[in-house]
Amino acid sequence: MPGRRDRVAERVAVIGGGPGGLYAAALLKRLDPDRSVTVWERGAPEDTFGFGVVFSDETVGGIESADPVVYAGMRKEFVRWDAIDIRHRDRLTRSGGHGFAALDRRRLLALLYARCRDLGVDVRIRTSAPTAAELAADHDLVVAADGAHSATRTAHADVFRPRLTAHDCRYIWLSADLPLDAFRFEVLETPYGVMQAHAYPYRRGASTFVVEMAEEVWRRAGFDRLSGDLPDGTEGTIASCEKLFAGVLEGRALHGNRSRWQSFTTVANGRWRHGRIVLLGDAAHTAHFSIGSGTKLAMEDALALAASLREQPDVDAALAAYESERRPVVESTQRAALASLEWFERLGSYVDQPPTQFAFNLLTRSRRVTHGNLRLRDREFTDGVERGFGAPPGTPPMFTPFTLRGLTLRNRVVVSPMDMYVARDGVPGDFHLVHLGARALGGAGLVMTEMVCVSPNGRITPGCTGLWNDEQEAAWRRITDFVHRQGGTGQGGTGQGGPGHDAPGTAIGLQLGHSGRKGSTRLMWEGIDQPLPDGNWPLVAPSALPYREGVNQVPHALTGRELAGIRDRFAAAAERGARAGFDLLELHCAHGYLLSSFLSPLTNRRTDRYGGDLAGRLRFPLEVLDAVRAVWPSRKPLSVRISATDWAPGGATGDDAVAVARALADHGADVVDVSTGQVVADERPAFGRSYQTPFADRIRNETGLPVIAVGAISSWDDVNSLLLAGRADLCALARPHLYDPHWTLHAAAEQSYAGPAAPWPAPYLAGSRPPPTGRTDAPKPRLTLDS
Ligand SMILES: Cc1cc2nc3c(=O)[nH]c(=O)nc-3n(C[C@H](O)[C@H](O)[C@H](O)COP(=O)(O)OP(=O)(O)OC[C@H]3O[C@@H](n4cnc5c(N)ncnc54)[C@H](O)[C@@H]3O)c2cc1C
Ligand SMILES: Cc1cc2nc3c(=O)[nH]c(=O)nc-3n(C[C@H](O)[C@H](O)[C@H](O)COP(=O)(O)O)c2cc1C
Repeated sequence: MPGRRDRVAERVAVIGGGPGGLYAAALLKRLDPDRSVTVWERGAPEDTFGFGVVFSDETVGGIESADPVVYAGMRKEFVRWDAIDIRHRDRLTRSGGHGFAALDRRRLLALLYARCRDLGVDVRIRTSAPTAAELAADHDLVVAADGAHSATRTAHADVFRPRLTAHDCRYIWLSADLPLDAFRFEVLETPYGVMQAHAYPYRRGASTFVVEMAEEVWRRAGFDRLSGDLPDGTEGTIASCEKLFAGVLEGRALHGNRSRWQSFTTVANGRWRHGRIVLLGDAAHTAHFSIGSGTKLAMEDALALAASLREQPDVDAALAAYESERRPVVESTQRAALASLEWFERLGSYVDQPPTQFAFNLLTRSRRVTHGNLRLRDREFTDGVERGFGAPPGTPPMFTPFTLRGLTLRNRVVVSPMDMYVARDGVPGDFHLVHLGARALGGAGLVMTEMVCVSPNGRITPGCTGLWNDEQEAAWRRITDFVHRQGGTGQGGTGQGGPGHDAPGTAIGLQLGHSGRKGSTRLMWEGIDQPLPDGNWPLVAPSALPYREGVNQVPHALTGRELAGIRDRFAAAAERGARAGFDLLELHCAHGYLLSSFLSPLTNRRTDRYGGDLAGRLRFPLEVLDAVRAVWPSRKPLSVRISATDWAPGGATGDDAVAVARALADHGADVVDVSTGQVVADERPAFGRSYQTPFADRIRNETGLPVIAVGAISSWDDVNSLLLAGRADLCALARPHLYDPHWTLHAAAEQSYAGPAAPWPAPYLAGSRPPPTGRTDAPKPRLTLDS
């Protein structure tokens, strides 16, 4: 490695001697011993904060191959373990097979200092660094590893564009004289509220012990009054934590080390480099400690920076390569960390879950670890979770039935509503029959129609279906008949279900909606939300606000009498829907269409009784719900789809969604289908794997209402995980069903499930196994000889 062709970055300055800065310095020096590397650290290794530093098996591997000397030193210090213990309501649940290693942060720093010294890095301890701008004047590269409060980042905020987000919980890093052999999560229900400890061993007989709780719990417990009492502000806090966690600590002591109560701040930057200055470690990004230590990320950054400098022709290219390599990894970790952090913020709403489900919920909180992962690691643990959920042996959770009023769904998969835009005059035709019919044969428990419009002007596009006349009603009847004939009645009837099966068949649900201000647009593939080239019809909305200024029509603000007319249209369509044989009705109150735009404060600016506070904004959707519920058969369930957040400042939030769900339930909704956004054009959604499920989770766990989760749920493993964790009762998948109409049947085959909840249609039985590939059919070589 040493002795490179032409040197990139001859003179390197590193601001900050934390793990990120020191490791980067050591690697850069090792790559090129002739390079000059100087580290400025205003403190000293012995007065550092913190206790143990955790690494997963994966990061340890990277460190091992980059610098075996550092790795060998770390290995000697490592405490290793592979279990996670969760104590909740006096029950300890263990999940095994995880693979962690930790060491004392002070030992790690001492190792890195020693390595830097041995390699010839100039480490200047107890010395404040010159500013990055000053250093850049006579260095080829300035590594700003100056921590979460980075002064470099602040000085060049116009370029780095930092975003700092402070979160609700309070936490403090402590250590305990506790010999743990696993990661330990302690959930403590106190008179002040729920508190949690995240603990893990880092040397023989000692464990890091992070105490965390919601801000209001922290105040009720009086920690705000204790936080500034003695030199490091911790004595009162420590005594109090020792008392509170006495059962866990079994009389052992807690210790501080420059510890103080903090609120976690997520640091992100629009850009990580500025000329020859580059951010590294906490200066560039932070991720909540519950998902993986900042130390690990900082050291991984150092690895990537060193590798990029080795591979690229100049500093500029190297810094670009470093940022483009690390940014997606860090952002993905930050998304997972945010999910984890928010889960801990909501911990109080999960404590009533049975201990095994609670443990599973905690382990899968970031939505990266799934049922499948945990099953591979520790089958005994997941078997217990599945039993607790009520899944019969050998039955994946997604294949357990679910009942809403008089409708029993044979499994938990829903074909999410998808507009096909191929109707003529609102009449569903052969395409709809084949499309919905194929998905009904494909095994889902419930197949939803697209948004079916209650009036011609309530359509989104000229290709949308409707249910305002007899012809449409008859055409829908043809479809529901097919679904029921081929997949059973959907109401506990015998259905097809394969030979010998007696299970509910496929159910079909009708989604009813009105486009509001998002109507009169082109077909999806001709330009989503673009007005028609000609023949536009007038739009209506709560307020005269266009979807996009200068692009979409300004809608007419509906009068009270017009509202009553639209309400009656919904009721009339619901009556037709019942006659057409639908099993479930869903009211579309999402995505910025008419009912949704009443709910959002960004689109409803009315000053009459249909606007104003949430109660006012809910009034019209609830009047429609009441009218629909009154005519919809009482044995049949009613769902409401909402946008649980507008993803826009001043818009509806997750808190509003919980209140909306409660109101909907009071007016007869049986289940809430929890989508998000599409209400305003300038939304900023946080897309990612199953990114909408935290909203469904909140509604389910805070109101007790059944929920349908939807959005970027693509694998059956995710479906099983969401169900087992108690985040959803049903999972709706849209695009995966365009890719594969037999999604559910294939999920069953892949899980070796052949029971009644996923019956192959009899004519398809011969194809119910994946076709063998040519390769596996070929005879295996019997004898191989060297030439
Ligand atoms: C109280 C506390 C306890 C923690 N405990 C743990 C733990 O137990 N385990 C764990 O994995 N993570 C822990 N963390 C998180 C972890 O410390 C960081 O994520 C990690 O250290 C990041 O490494 P870094 O090198 O980027 O930054 P840091 O470790 O923060 O290092 C930055 C360094 O820069 C120095 N510096 C800043 N400005 C200047 C300047 N102008 N001149 C000279 N020096 C400067 C600082 O003194 C500091 O040493 C803890 C964090 C805090 C706040
Ligand atoms: C082609 C298409 C049409 C859609 N039409 C509707 C619709 O009519 N009503 C509705 O509520 N959602 C509609 N959606 C949204 C989906 O139901 C679903 O919420 C979204 O696609 C996220 O799920 P997915 O990640 O599984 O695709 C549509 C989505 C697609 C891809």
